Amino acid sequence: MRSISARARRLPPSTTLKISQMAADMRAKGEDVISLSIGEPDFQTPQPIIDAAKEALERGETHYAPSRGIPELREEIARKMKEENMVDVGPENIIVTIAKHGIFMASQSVVQHGEEVVLPDPGWVSYSAISIFSGAKRVDLRAKEEDGFIPREEDIKNAVGDKTKLFVINTPSNPTGVVYPKKTLKVIADLAEDYDFYVLSDEIYEKLIYRGKHISIASLGNMHERTITLNGFSKAYAMTGWRMGWISAPEHLVDAINKLQQQTITCVPPFIQRAGIVALRECAPCVEDMRKEFEKRRLVALGEIDEMHTMSAFKPSGAFYIFARYLPEMNSFSLAEYLLEEHKVAVTPGGAFGIAGEGYIRISYAASTERLIEGLRRIDRGLGSL
Ligand SMILES: Cc1ncc(COP(=O)(O)O)c(C=O)c1O
Repeated sequence: MRSISARARRLPPSTTLKISQMAADMRAKGEDVISLSIGEPDFQTPQPIIDAAKEALERGETHYAPSRGIPELREEIARKMKEENMVDVGPENIIVTIAKHGIFMASQSVVQHGEEVVLPDPGWVSYSAISIFSGAKRVDLRAKEEDGFIPREEDIKNAVGDKTKLFVINTPSNPTGVVYPKKTLKVIADLAEDYDFYVLSDEIYEKLIYRGKHISIASLGNMHERTITLNGFSKAYAMTGWRMGWISAPEHLVDAINKLQQQTITCVPPFIQRAGIVALRECAPCVEDMRKEFEKRRLVALGEIDEMHTMSAFKPSGAFYIFARYLPEMNSFSLAEYLLEEHKVAVTPGGAFGIAGEGYIRISYAASTERLIEGLRRIDRGLGSL
């Protein structure tokens, strides 16, 4: 039989989805597993959003939509980008898509073989598809806990050069929760001008901030000309299952990305896009309620971990993850399996986020306070008995 392609073989499976599946299988067998692995708000999608989708379905919005997205939604997103993110864009700069697929389409539209892509380390594992499928060389930009997981200026400078085509940033970050300060964004922006590369700015956690302020790199100087901003509804509006996000980018890039969209998913379903309009127009108070609840859980989790001798937590400024360094010497993948199998608690191994993530586990606090506390205690017991 003929073999599958080298790039398909090289693509790592999603560790988070694997662990979550294992946890779901154990739960199906009646085991009491606590899941702190997946990046998914446990809240119900706000009711006005659900109602908008239902109404659109009833109205018969069940056919293909324009591949870039329905005009009202693209206008609403452009308004949001202008007002909230200070990025000077219009609907022609917006394409509605599935967030994860947007990263894939945008990167494949700009990066090619022989070029270089800078990726955060630790960073979200799905970015690895960017280099694997384009044939570009990946350059990992390490960030250390002692620097608050903010990459050092000299390391940023060393990571880029004439071959750099795309620089990926993710602030607030998955997995560390760090929010990049303006100074760091400025360093990257200046280098983007000097070396003429694009920045892919993944801002999907922008609404979930507890300390500091979110700044879109596209708002700095002329950066809107070379920034691809990715955002979406999944995390802010508890809409992970709706599969909708957007890209904001220079128009010529949106045109290129749109061809990929046309030839892959065609469009995001129209009734989901209608729900997106309502989310942006009406649901800011719901987002704020959820943010406040995450903030409470964040403090509860940090307080619990502070009392433990088995791990220490980096204090996240945003998103809903705690990146915790554990003491026993054990590979993070084996540790995650051990914690799940022996102590019935699912976490994501830090090693899944790159070499700099080894020795850590990512704990999602998108779970009820009660389950979160119980889950943390199970981790503590598990680590303590190693
Ligand atoms: C950093 C980051 N970017 C993008 C996404 C993708 O979001 P979606 O599930 O809406 O495609 C995720 C989801 O986990 C994420 O953590």
